[in-house]
Amino acid sequence: MSDTDPSSRPGSRQRPGVASVPVELAERRYEVLIGPGVLQDAAQLIESRLGPVRCGIVTDRNVAARHLVPLETSLQAARRHAGTIVLEPGEATKSMARLAELTDGLLEMGLERSDVVIALGGGVIGDLAGFAASVIRRGVRYVQIPTSLLAQVDSSVGGKTAVNSRLGKNLIGAFHQPALVLADTDVLSTLPARELRAGYAEVVKYGLLGDREFYNWLEVHRASLFGNDASILTEAVRRSVAAKAAIVARDETETGDRMLLNLGHTFGHALEAWAVAQAFRFSEAMGFAPVGTAAEVSRHLSSVGLPTCVSDIPGPGRPTAAELVHLMGQDKKVRAGRLTFILARGIGEAFITREVEMDRLVDFMEREVGGQEAGAA
Ligand code: GLY
Repeated sequence: MSDTDPSSRPGSRQRPGVASVPVELAERRYEVLIGPGVLQDAAQLIESRLGPVRCGIVTDRNVAARHLVPLETSLQAARRHAGTIVLEPGEATKSMARLAELTDGLLEMGLERSDVVIALGGGVIGDLAGFAASVIRRGVRYVQIPTSLLAQVDSSVGGKTAVNSRLGKNLIGAFHQPALVLADTDVLSTLPARELRAGYAEVVKYGLLGDREFYNWLEVHRASLFGNDASILTEAVRRSVAAKAAIVARDETETGDRMLLNLGHTFGHALEAWAVAQAFRFSEAMGFAPVGTAAEVSRHLSSVGLPTCVSDIPGPGRPTAAELVHLMGQDKKVRAGRLTFILARGIGEAFITREVEMDRLVDFMEREVGGQEAGAA
């Protein structure tokens, strides 16, 4: 299962069932270790890869209640714990104000240039702690320990770090690759079904955008994944991370292929599964994907309880087509006034295009908001 076998290194101890996926970025190469128990083994795993470093933990209150003790215990036993900072959960924590407090807190721990920040949590903690690590002492290393499925398969890998500006999300940040990622699949068993579904939307996206065989595997195994089968979860995370690692290795700073990971974003960043289904419907409407592809994608997403059309989104006052098209125009991926679309020629065959006429988009969005059947173009 492992792509490499780090257990053969002196001083490392790795449980069976732990997979290693390398992110091949020359001198910034790092490993993502995936499997049960890596959180408890954190001190040994960090020392075997990064040396005898002191570690400052950054986490949030919810994650701390569930997962801080095994991590602190591991670091304290190895005399590597420099301190812990527990932040409020939620997107509001990704601010310049919290960043300033966090960087002071990390410096007060006495972290040296060679020491390490640990981000223990989901995407908010990973983005904020990673950005703090990129600026303190002009950059220290950090280790991601993602505790949500979404963070394990996406945000913890690839080095995007940021805080939000009052002008928009993630507008102040840096590419700063982690030095190691520890994705403990045991922690996923404590996730509410809703969070598991949100992460699954990202997992299936790797199949949809570039790997038909992985999509077929998910068709067979998705019920076991939602039933918390440890080996299926580990394999799903491993294959997702391997897909992301390959894209990041080709295009670290998103000037080309990494944009494929934005499948669905142009249509609706916050509601990604619905937006992915919509991207396939639009691909079909534009004549890129064969008839029936969008229906197949919608059926897969619906079968695990994910929304596939705008009418599935609960809440008052759905947006109009004009509002949706306007929102799409605010997307970071607008270049020289043209929207960048990630569309597909079929399952596993996503591509990037700017050749979309606005009239076609507006017509399509009007039909979508009019409540067309999922899968119909
Ligand atoms: N989440 C998309 C990326 O890391 O590029």
